[in-house]
Amino acid sequence: MKRKVQVGIIGAGPAGLLLAHLLKRAGIEALVVDNRSRDEIESTIRAGVLEQWTVDLLISLGLGERLKREAYFHDGITLRFNRGSHHLDFPELTNGKRVTVYAQHEVLKDLIAALPEDMIQFGVKEVALTKLDTDRPAIRTAEDEIECDFIAGCDGFHGPSRRAIPKSAIRTYETVYPFGWLGILTEAPPSHHELVYARHERGFALLSTRSSTVQRLYLQCAPKDDLNQWSDDRIWSELRQRLETDEDWSLTEGTIFQKNIVSMRSFVCETMRWGRLFLAGDAAHIVPPTGAKGLNLAAADVVVLSRALIAWYRDHGTDLLDRYAPTCLARIWKGERFSWYMTTLLHRNDLEEEFVQRIHMADLEYLVGSHAAQQALAENYVGLPMAV
Ligand code: FAD
Ligand code: PHB
Repeated sequence: MKRKVQVGIIGAGPAGLLLAHLLKRAGIEALVVDNRSRDEIESTIRAGVLEQWTVDLLISLGLGERLKREAYFHDGITLRFNRGSHHLDFPELTNGKRVTVYAQHEVLKDLIAALPEDMIQFGVKEVALTKLDTDRPAIRTAEDEIECDFIAGCDGFHGPSRRAIPKSAIRTYETVYPFGWLGILTEAPPSHHELVYARHERGFALLSTRSSTVQRLYLQCAPKDDLNQWSDDRIWSELRQRLETDEDWSLTEGTIFQKNIVSMRSFVCETMRWGRLFLAGDAAHIVPPTGAKGLNLAAADVVVLSRALIAWYRDHGTDLLDRYAPTCLARIWKGERFSWYMTTLLHRNDLEEEFVQRIHMADLEYLVGSHAAQQALAENYVGLPMAV
């Protein structure tokens, strides 16, 4: 069937759904298509930390009611190394900003529930982009051809949008890390009142939370590790060792009911626009999760894109559309830098010379002794100012 829509959005992740809401508020007709089922989207475990401005945006769009009730608001994070803990006080360091822990799939449930049903199609097969060299680009699926004024490629790192841009027009930058994260969900009460990031000679560990009865923990592993090699006993033993401290503290343990391994890369595609196709979120850039930035960068892209599209529908002005990629990239590269910094600072990398490993320890010592260094970390963690 042939149909028409003003803005066709590929991908019902944070970028695509938030863009749909921003356009809907401005009276612009948008349609989101995703190849996964609603159930799968609403149950995939990924991010946990939202920047302050992302939370403020969700609340201002009327999408933050459940978040306000159920999220955890932390006054900082703890860095742990050499058996000691060091609290970074974010409100003091950032003029009042805090950390919000609210799972990505809960954000997605809230965004999906608040969109009219006819604005989103799940389980759409064979999604392809066509006619990108015309003024009427289209999304072709197994059943429809959706003709659009604009297409937003919000389909993540593996989606078809970035691949639809001719290779000769693409410039990418990438680094792949020689480690991954094993993430678990466990039925246990919190072990600590805030997130703990630990550097240990056995590797990185991160203590995060989901609720008063479910905790999210991560530990550094080999990127190609087989989950079967990671028995529950081995996971707890590694977490206990990597989070060890001389303080009166112990890890609360419980039944592990979910395990997965993610690989880690940094990636930027500097071509975020091709004609009337605009890439946003993980489709254009990936960060390792150590800085908790990916979802927040995706949200920032679509705020910039929505402003540009709204301006175009108001008076056909192309200025903001032309500035979309450079405006986003200026902030994206800072997110890339911070995520790379947190990753190299906190992980054990045997490919690094011992000299570099000692530099990371010196960096941590400097950080916990310097208000200025803490301020720099905190300002990035809670979220840099939005692009204008
Ligand atoms: P995605 O969430 O990848 O959404 C893309 C959508 O496109 C998906 O729904 C997919 O089904 C759809 N799609 C793909 N291919 C097709 C196709 N062919 N046809 C139609 N649809 C398609 N970020 C943070 O900000 N804070 C954190 O604390 C954090 N922690 C993380 C922890 C882990 C373990 C991981 C893995 C990531 C974490 N992130 C974090 C990153 C964050 O999850 C991503 O950056 C975020 O999901 C990007 O959103 P997106 O909408 O761009 O892409
Ligand atoms: C999470 O809770 O999933 C989480 C927290 C902090 C990170 C990454 C992920 O840096």
